[in-house]
Amino acid sequence: MQELNVTIPSIPSTSYPIQIACGTLCDLWDRLESKYPAHRKFVVTDANLVSAGHLNTLTKQQNIETFVIDPPGEISKHINTAIAIIEAMEKVFMGRDSVIVALGGGTVGDIAGFAAAIFKRGVKVVQIPTTTVSQADSSVGGKTGVDSTISKNAFGAFWQPDAVFIDVETLKTLDDTQYRAGLVESVKHALIADSDYFEFFEQNMPAVLSRDMDILEKIAFRNCSIKASVVAEDPTEKNKRRILNYGHTIGHAVESASNFDLLHGQAVAIGIIGATIIEKHLGMGDDTRTARISKVLEELGMELTIPKNINKDTLTDLIKRDKKAVNKWPKFVLLQDIGQALCTDGQWAHNVTQQAVDAALDQLY
Ligand code: GLY
Repeated sequence: MQELNVTIPSIPSTSYPIQIACGTLCDLWDRLESKYPAHRKFVVTDANLVSAGHLNTLTKQQNIETFVIDPPGEISKHINTAIAIIEAMEKVFMGRDSVIVALGGGTVGDIAGFAAAIFKRGVKVVQIPTTTVSQADSSVGGKTGVDSTISKNAFGAFWQPDAVFIDVETLKTLDDTQYRAGLVESVKHALIADSDYFEFFEQNMPAVLSRDMDILEKIAFRNCSIKASVVAEDPTEKNKRRILNYGHTIGHAVESASNFDLLHGQAVAIGIIGATIIEKHLGMGDDTRTARISKVLEELGMELTIPKNINKDTLTDLIKRDKKAVNKWPKFVLLQDIGQALCTDGQWAHNVTQQAVDAALDQLY
């Protein structure tokens, strides 16, 4: 087992452990009981975790208060699900002594974290992520929220977890498409912060794809180390945390325009290639860099072109509506090199003209 801590100096007394191991889900409930002896636990999970047997493994079939999100996935990530969780907690007299235990992927973690942020003005949440995307990214750092009918995470709060427990063995049951797409966030971490980690992907892809447990523990540790250090510096995304959105500006637009037919990671892979094209246009990148990145993403099985049924004007419109846009145009995270996000004059997100983005979109079709 490996452990690291997220310590956020700007939020007094915010420090939480991330434990990374293989095969620990079956013992975790006892550890939760000893870590939180005076708290009542309320599990939030989804129907996939129930059918995969992970809920029973965690709770050992004890009668624990549980809310099962059904149907699983983004379709349930709306305010009514958060309300249903909160009312289910009220019905069983949960109080401010509650700990919400979020068992699942990104959607479960985001909804459960948001419910924890608003239930009786805030209760603890423990994240137990079970997918590649949630183990790499969403379980750490405290971004929580649900979608409105108009945009993703329209209702949201920064609410740091009290602890994160990663059991890489839970990835064994993950569907292959989800498994591969979630790894794009790990490649993103390598690109923005750690060239050795990128080389690790170049050299170890067969073992990564065969779900070698030692390799998955290493990946989880590298991801969490990178994410923890960025979040510690900038918990509320005023500046440096924006590097975690590398590839996401075009990626989010492609994801929305596909009506979520594309998984987040699949869309972000296209967005990462879009960013490398912009970098070349600005004289920073070159064909070798783009080729290395494309190779790793293709080995993960990612398609690196925008589906033909997605209209370019729709994408431009969505980019203008990006939640970080100022005067209807967002700034972009760019790479100085593989393993190093670009920082100029202390800023980690950069002005890029609409023309340059337009040209990148053209090349992505
Ligand atoms: N997923 C990006 C972040 O946590 O800031």
